[in-house]
Amino acid sequence: MTNPKERHVPVLFQESMDFLRVRPNGTYADCTVGLAGHSEGILRRLGPEGHLIGFDRDPQAMALAKVRLGRVLNEIGSEEPAITLIGEAFSSIAKHVKPGSLDGLLADFGVSSLQFDEAQRGFSFQADGPLDMRMDTRSGPTAAQVVNEISEHELANLIYENGDERRSRTVARAIVRGRPVTTTGQLARIVASAVPAMKHDKKHGHIHPATRTFQALRIYVNRELDEIRDLLEAAPGLFKPSGRLVVISFHSLEDRIAKDSLRDGTQKGIWEVLTRKPVTAGEEETDRNPRSRSAKLRAAERK
Ligand SMILES: C[S@@+](CC[C@H](N)C(=O)[O-])C[C@H]1O[C@@H](n2cnc3c(N)ncnc32)[C@H](O)[C@@H]1O
Repeated sequence: MTNPKERHVPVLFQESMDFLRVRPNGTYADCTVGLAGHSEGILRRLGPEGHLIGFDRDPQAMALAKVRLGRVLNEIGSEEPAITLIGEAFSSIAKHVKPGSLDGLLADFGVSSLQFDEAQRGFSFQADGPLDMRMDTRSGPTAAQVVNEISEHELANLIYENGDERRSRTVARAIVRGRPVTTTGQLARIVASAVPAMKHDKKHGHIHPATRTFQALRIYVNRELDEIRDLLEAAPGLFKPSGRLVVISFHSLEDRIAKDSLRDGTQKGIWEVLTRKPVTAGEEETDRNPRSRSAKLRAAERK
């Protein structure tokens, strides 16, 4: 049987490489190394003067990426580029990357298949596991702490704001009544019994009633939207002229931040946007990898 970690397919891989336009001597940041699919692509396009700087705040992802990228470097041999891996949130990028030094930056937001598929990580309602949802397992409150400790009002707001869930008050009330909530299965059952299933979505098929609540908690626990804002605010100062920025988002809240930030940057003469409309996966990719269905890629060049 194939190891699921080996089966991982990076989303919009060729499109990311094309927009990054990797120059062999360049310095590139992969802000979301994950299982290192995109990082490997960058590394293989770099020469001995090139440098890849990779970030991931998930220690398990970092450990696997080190092994995978180490194998790639061994294969490349004496002409290998330099690589620096940083196990921190990408909002800390300005601490690690010199101003004006980047030729390219990639960020592929959201959770990895490693996180999502492993019940123990507590991201998914498909399999029962502890209600955790932290990407960085070393710190911060877990989703269980959040749902058990904050007020019903705060819970409703966070589900509404981060999950676009119109029935957030009903969901929050049911969760508070069901406390303590400790597993993903328990939370999914509470939400499903409080709100009826969403109507059938033509594009994505049946949507589980807990989808939006799980998304909201995940975003809140990992401060995902603030992380993206911080990254996009720091990014312009890190690039060389004509360096390329490529961001891939998976839901409208992420994509809106990227879109607004690039629009503002264009008005200020910082960016030239290369994707008038976001690039999405073709049919061949969405058939092979269902996760790519919601992916949107935006790219820009530093002026
Ligand atoms: C969608 S996966 C990336 C997959 C990767 N492009 C590949 O080819 O395997 C996103 C990864 O980014 C990491 N991540 C998400 N937000 C982060 C942040 N703010 N700082 C650092 N890492 C983050 C997650 O832990 C996860 O491993």
